[in-house]
Amino acid sequence: MDKQIDRRTFLSYLGTGAAALAAASAGLGVLDGKASAASATADHLFGFKTNKVSGYFEPIAASKEDHLILPNGYSYDVVAAFDDIINEAGERFGTGSDYNAFFPIDGSNSHGLLVNNHEYTNLFSVGPVKDGKMTKEQVEKDLYYQGMSVIEVAQDEKGTWRMDTKSKHARRINGFSKFELTGPAAGTSALNNATTAQGTFANCSGGITLWNTVLSCEENFSETATAAGLPLTHYGWVVEIDPFDGSYLKKHTALGRFNHENTCMGLTKDNRVVVYMGDDKKDACVYKFVSKNKYVAEFGRKNADLLTEGTLYVANLKSGKWVALTYEAVSKALANESFKAPTGVKGTREELLKKFQNQGDVVTNCHEAALILGGTPTDRPEDIEISPFDNTVFICHTNNDNHGNIHGHITRIFEKDNDLGATEFDFEIFAAGGRQSGFSSPDNLAFDSNGNLWVVTDISTSSMHKGVHTPFKNNGLFVIPTHGPSKGIALQFASAPIDSELTGPFFTPNEQTLFLSVQHPGENTTEVSKPTSLWPHRDGDKIPRCGVVAIKGFKLG
Ligand code: FEO
Ligand code: CA
Ligand code: CA
Ligand code: CA
Repeated sequence: MDKQIDRRTFLSYLGTGAAALAAASAGLGVLDGKASAASATADHLFGFKTNKVSGYFEPIAASKEDHLILPNGYSYDVVAAFDDIINEAGERFGTGSDYNAFFPIDGSNSHGLLVNNHEYTNLFSVGPVKDGKMTKEQVEKDLYYQGMSVIEVAQDEKGTWRMDTKSKHARRINGFSKFELTGPAAGTSALNNATTAQGTFANCSGGITLWNTVLSCEENFSETATAAGLPLTHYGWVVEIDPFDGSYLKKHTALGRFNHENTCMGLTKDNRVVVYMGDDKKDACVYKFVSKNKYVAEFGRKNADLLTEGTLYVANLKSGKWVALTYEAVSKALANESFKAPTGVKGTREELLKKFQNQGDVVTNCHEAALILGGTPTDRPEDIEISPFDNTVFICHTNNDNHGNIHGHITRIFEKDNDLGATEFDFEIFAAGGRQSGFSSPDNLAFDSNGNLWVVTDISTSSMHKGVHTPFKNNGLFVIPTHGPSKGIALQFASAPIDSELTGPFFTPNEQTLFLSVQHPGENTTEVSKPTSLWPHRDGDKIPRCGVVAIKGFKLG
């Protein structure tokens, strides 16, 4: 047995069955990316023969430089940046780059479609906003430059990653695209009886599905919706797109409406689809959706129907229970005449009874329903990933200065009997931000085939280099082993340019390329002519640009 696996961890492995026990006995590193210890997750590593990427780099030191700094032997290509033309129609790459997903074409690791989320606009994309009110032209830019880009990328003969602007797949999805609404809120009064919605924006992180589509998460949507005069309840959902089919655009209301950070999909023991989700707000909850019906691999994209019907749960961390968010449960709680709204829920009992009249209202006002039913308010739950090795669930709780959690932590959930469909769980704090770990404010996550967690940090630009954040310098990318002698120890792999955060880490299946976004370089700039960053430092450029890089230099394992 691996000496580093303590008794408590070992006992939890015992619950995962013989395969996991064998893995624990031998050290998880022997799994070689086959993820044989657990059920399938919608993880690009699963089922691929992978190379080991960890253990081959010398960790870097924190930095204040205006560069994307990588360990010796690694380099990057800028694949696409804000305002680059992406196709023959002349559509342009959006800004606020976040989540990435790479889809091989013909099984290639050096040619495929790259989907990138565009979370929000800035001074460099819409210009200075006077008195807090955007002009009509600025509102149009705000809707245009958010959303998503699908681009075609390939490595040339020298190994440089380039965007193919002649691609027939390359396109923008933005605040003007028309989405079909599915699930319990579609067509209900909560959504003004609408069955379609105009556009997607505030697209933060996301996830891939078991049927090779992308789920993209609408996070801080209210400013854009309000400025554009669009109905607020049409945003704050999980949207689904098919990179290879431009006509396929859906918003799945069964997954709830809140400030969605990302999705992470897996299967229950009886083959139903599970989607874990975080609500990135202070004092907000962790959710999971479990489909009513079972996943059938041969059905391909038709499995997306699974996202229209099922049970949405919120985590109660004190009781270790997943609480079902149903109309019946909410109305039962409100029927009690001595009901008092918990902290975080506004309104009297009468007002709440009016607000919650059916399941559409419950999913639309998800955060309030969750708190009413005992969901635990947590510290900004951002990315969630299921370990493809042992089915434990990792959650980044970025931070929450409301109660002194300045540097955040990574929570790890152990579902009962190792079943993602369980309604009971236990948890541990897997790693905590702070001086002792060298990182602060964990945000997006990705696994490599060695079971290492790749973690990007999001110290806000207003806190960076100040007070207790000073030693961490610029934001970074860290690698944290989840087993073995270095379990829980953070090793810095990248340092971000000035005022930026790194987002959307995503490996190609062979782990020879890591796609990564650089979001909001130069965010502290107040005058366009005096930018605080000029990343990506392309010839002739006078402004910083959000963009996506392809990191190379990973050795074969
Ligand atoms: Fe868009 Fe929660 O980061
Ligand atoms: Ca984030
Ligand atoms: Ca992720
Ligand atoms: Ca963030």
